Amino acid sequence: MELLLLADPSEDKIRSYLSSSKCFVASIDGDVVGACVVQPRGTDTHELMSIAVHPAHQKSGYGTALLKWVIDFFRIAGARQLEVGTGTFGYQLAFYQRQGFRVTSIDHDFFVKNYPEPIFEDGIQLFDMLRLTLKYSGNDA
Ligand SMILES: CC(C)(COP(=O)(O)OP(=O)(O)OC[C@H]1O[C@@H](n2cnc3c(N)ncnc32)[C@H](O)[C@@H]1OP(=O)(O)O)[C@@H](O)C(=O)NCCC(=O)NCCS
Repeated sequence: MELLLLADPSEDKIRSYLSSSKCFVASIDGDVVGACVVQPRGTDTHELMSIAVHPAHQKSGYGTALLKWVIDFFRIAGARQLEVGTGTFGYQLAFYQRQGFRVTSIDHDFFVKNYPEPIFEDGIQLFDMLRLTLKYSGNDA
C-alpha cells in the first residue's frame, strides 16, 4: 500500500480495485521495491491501474523492467491491449510511450471529479487524464 500510494493518493480507490486485480512486484533480495496492479477490462483488455517504485530505488531501471515484464505477461496470455490512465505532463508520459503506449483519448477533469482534494505534481494541478493504449500486434482474434 505504501508503494501504491505513490502512484494514487487515494487509499480507498486503491482498495476498490485491488481484489479484482493482479498484483506484480519487483524485489531485491526478497525486499519489495516496486509494484504494479492490473485489472481486467473485458476478455482481452487489461488496465494498468498503478505502478510505483520505492523512491530510494527510482531511476535505476526497476520501473521499466517491471513494466516490460507485465507487458510480456499479458502478451503471452493472449491479451489484445493494455490501457493506462495518467496525467497530461511529466516523465511518466515518456515512461509509458517508450514501451509502445499511444495516446487514445483525454478524460477531461478526471482528477477533479474523482478525488476530493486537488492533486499537484511539480507544482501544477492535475486536471485531465490522458488515456494511453498499447496494442499487441499478432494477438488479434
Ligand atoms: C514511474 C515509476 C514507476 C518509474 O520507475 P523507475 O524505476 O523510476 O523508472 P526507470 O528507472 O525505469 O526510469 C524510467 C524513466 O523515468 C525517469 N524518471 C523516473 N523517475 C523520475 C523522476 N522522479 N523525475 C524525472 N524522471 C524520472 C527516469 O530518469 C527514466 O528516464 P531515462 O531513461 O530518460 O533516464 C517511478 O518513478 C514511480 O514510482 N513514480 C511515482 C509513482 C508514479 O508516478 N507512478 C505512475 C503513475 S501514472
